[in-house]
Amino acid sequence: MIAAFCIFRDFFMTVRHFLSLLDYPLADYRRILARAADLKQAYEAGIRPATLRQRVLGMIFEKASTRTRLSFEAGMAQLGGTAIFLSPRDTQLGRGEPVEDSARVMSRMVDAVMIRAKDHAMIEQFAAYSKVPVINALTDINHPCQLLADVFTFEQKRGSIQGKRVAWIGDGFNMCHSYINAAQVFDFELMIATPIGYEPDADIVAAAGGRIHLVNTAEEAALDADLVVTDVWASMGQEEERERRLRDFSDFTIDDRVMDKANADALFMHCLPAHRGEEVTAGVMDGPQSVVWEEAEARLHTQKALLEFLILGDVSADLSNPN
Ligand code: CP
Ligand code: NVA
Repeated sequence: MIAAFCIFRDFFMTVRHFLSLLDYPLADYRRILARAADLKQAYEAGIRPATLRQRVLGMIFEKASTRTRLSFEAGMAQLGGTAIFLSPRDTQLGRGEPVEDSARVMSRMVDAVMIRAKDHAMIEQFAAYSKVPVINALTDINHPCQLLADVFTFEQKRGSIQGKRVAWIGDGFNMCHSYINAAQVFDFELMIATPIGYEPDADIVAAAGGRIHLVNTAEEAALDADLVVTDVWASMGQEEERERRLRDFSDFTIDDRVMDKANADALFMHCLPAHRGEEVTAGVMDGPQSVVWEEAEARLHTQKALLEFLILGDVSADLSNPN
């Protein structure tokens, strides 16, 4: 009888993955971001609630990372849990063990799996065979965790992002796609300026409706913006295209002239790592409108809330349970 119930329950229980910002309704993100604000306050007050005590996060990195690894690993430790770093170089995944077999095995041993993958299809395949939540920590399609941090940072400084005007200037790649998803979920206007040939995926743009506007120059995108955002011109895996990209993107540097088109209180963000003198000048990157360090720190707070949401089934109310 109990066995039959378990089979029934397992069959109908869907695992909560986070592969794209489009996976959950706005109300869920509102709870996650509110929880992140509480966790940030608690962290600053020296309080470490152990809401994920004895929980384990597996972390698969097919590409390099500083912020993502640190924020997930530190976040799990601060919530009383553990994170295990798995490099394809040192695991059987890197020697050709099928993704679905790896997912079946790993998800029997950990409470969630975070993946930074070269190919978005890998993460989807892993999720399809995983019994535990899978978190997208960057693919060639999107980077949804970064957007939780970016929206959180904007709202901590300026209040709700709904109805605001955001300028994306640079490559129409993974970060740009997540900004398009975010415009759809959080309901803001997104102006996008890319060089010809580097536009974002047309289907992702179309799905976001009338909030997305593709323009030709950095100045047009920045006009009256509340937030100006960029990313590297050559992403991980595009190193061989670097010289061509430096030429193609040369009119898309965010400098004082571009920032002057935006609102006087506009913020500047960059997911980092940044290349001063390429996509952004040192003056803007290190200037008064830049919030890039707060943005990087926000990865910690927002992902702790995300981990609670995915592993516990919702964010925890408990801030008192000491670690
Ligand atoms: N922004 C970001 O994801 O940084 P890392 O590549 O250092 O993880
Ligand atoms: N677009 C960049 C983001 C790094 C966080 C890349 O994919 O390398």
